[in-house]
Amino acid sequence: MNSLTLFLPCASGVEGFLADEVHGLTALSGLDLLTLRGGVRVRGDWACMLRLNLHSRLAQRVLIELVQAPYRDEQDLYRLAGGVAWEDWFTPRQTFKVDVTAQASGLRSLNFAALRIKDALADRFRQRAGGVRPSVDTRAPDVRVHAHLTPERVHLYIDTSGEPLFKRGWRHDKGDAPLKETLAAAMLAACGWWQPATRRVLDVPLYDPCCGSGTIVIEAAQLLLGAPAGGLRRFAFESLRPFDAAGWHAVKKQAASGAQTPPKGAATPAVRLFGSDVAHRMVDFAQRNAERAGVAHAMQLRGGDALQRQPPTPFPGVIVMNPPYGERIATAGVAGQGRGREAFQSATLSHPGRSRQNASGSDTGDEFFARLATHWKTHYTGWSAWLLTPDAKLPARLRLKETRRVPLWNGPIECRLLRFDIR
Ligand SMILES: C[S@@+](CC[C@H](N)C(=O)[O-])C[C@H]1O[C@@H](n2cnc3c(N)ncnc32)[C@H](O)[C@@H]1O
Repeated sequence: MNSLTLFLPCASGVEGFLADEVHGLTALSGLDLLTLRGGVRVRGDWACMLRLNLHSRLAQRVLIELVQAPYRDEQDLYRLAGGVAWEDWFTPRQTFKVDVTAQASGLRSLNFAALRIKDALADRFRQRAGGVRPSVDTRAPDVRVHAHLTPERVHLYIDTSGEPLFKRGWRHDKGDAPLKETLAAAMLAACGWWQPATRRVLDVPLYDPCCGSGTIVIEAAQLLLGAPAGGLRRFAFESLRPFDAAGWHAVKKQAASGAQTPPKGAATPAVRLFGSDVAHRMVDFAQRNAERAGVAHAMQLRGGDALQRQPPTPFPGVIVMNPPYGERIATAGVAGQGRGREAFQSATLSHPGRSRQNASGSDTGDEFFARLATHWKTHYTGWSAWLLTPDAKLPARLRLKETRRVPLWNGPIECRLLRFDIR
């Protein structure tokens, strides 16, 4: 019986892909699977919630909706929160935290709204548990409560994920500009290499020539091998009252039986996932991350300048990357020879406002991208390249015309995933 209403928030632009992913994982559709702004609403059961936490690559978290109702002021929030049977979900010995988000709410202070919900919850426990109430822990709570306010309605949720789902548990080594795992997965869906609705991936080589800590290729490898996204991490539902260890074990066992591990002693199948980076330190990071993720055998990682590396396979494939952004990056490779090698590390997607001029006044970003396009046109005929960038002028810098443009958000930064067909 689909007794739970779940909400899976995701980055803007990803809602449609997430709905496909949820359908592929649960077979839900119609009124049981609604695509909304900022996420997907699902009517499912506890097992469905477990499965979505374990497998979703696009959701930020999985929330169970406990109540939704009209409200006018903080007193209504107190009353509604006090009516929820929190004691069915956790005990007064566990710590909790209330987060409030809003979409054009008329309330003056979201902090005050959170405080009233916190009070209601604590008062309810105090009345029912002999004066004992759970403590607040804003850093590492056992239980997270989310309230979402629209102008007229409040939705109260309990979080079943805990740490956001982009934290897969394998990335211990990262550079200065790591891509969130959820965004890397969204890029793989948006470029069509991964089809979330059918849970298939394309049988074509995939290459990230600026792979950094390896996020894109590692996500791709886990998809190729059918490995669950959250197989290495823990979830908040494990400490909620309805948790049933045997049921969770069964869901994990089923996931493991669908994943491919290399048979001992067998020849490694032909690798079709490739990553490289001009910084050897990054390649080491990517290698260690891939090993932790259990997918190192499915990819080839190398050092090298994107402006010089030859195609990693004789068959054309797809390049998927978030290229260096900003004036300092290109100084790492041949486009920047003679300038400092260390400087590129601080240029990131999170510095979109930076000037493109380097200290000597030359425009290295333009030089890097112009040379990249020439290199691709000479050596990568037949490949298609998908680049995620916040830079609206990237096509002009590459001197190439994009054939597709998919808007995706990297946190608060508006980006586009651009497709270039290399002829
Ligand atoms: C925005 S980061 C990519 C982050 C990566 N997707 C990850 O998740 O960690 C850009 C990467 O480009 C690399 N890079 C900069 N110039 C390069 C060049 N000429 N050739 C190859 N890689 C380069 C940097 O070392 C950095 O790791």
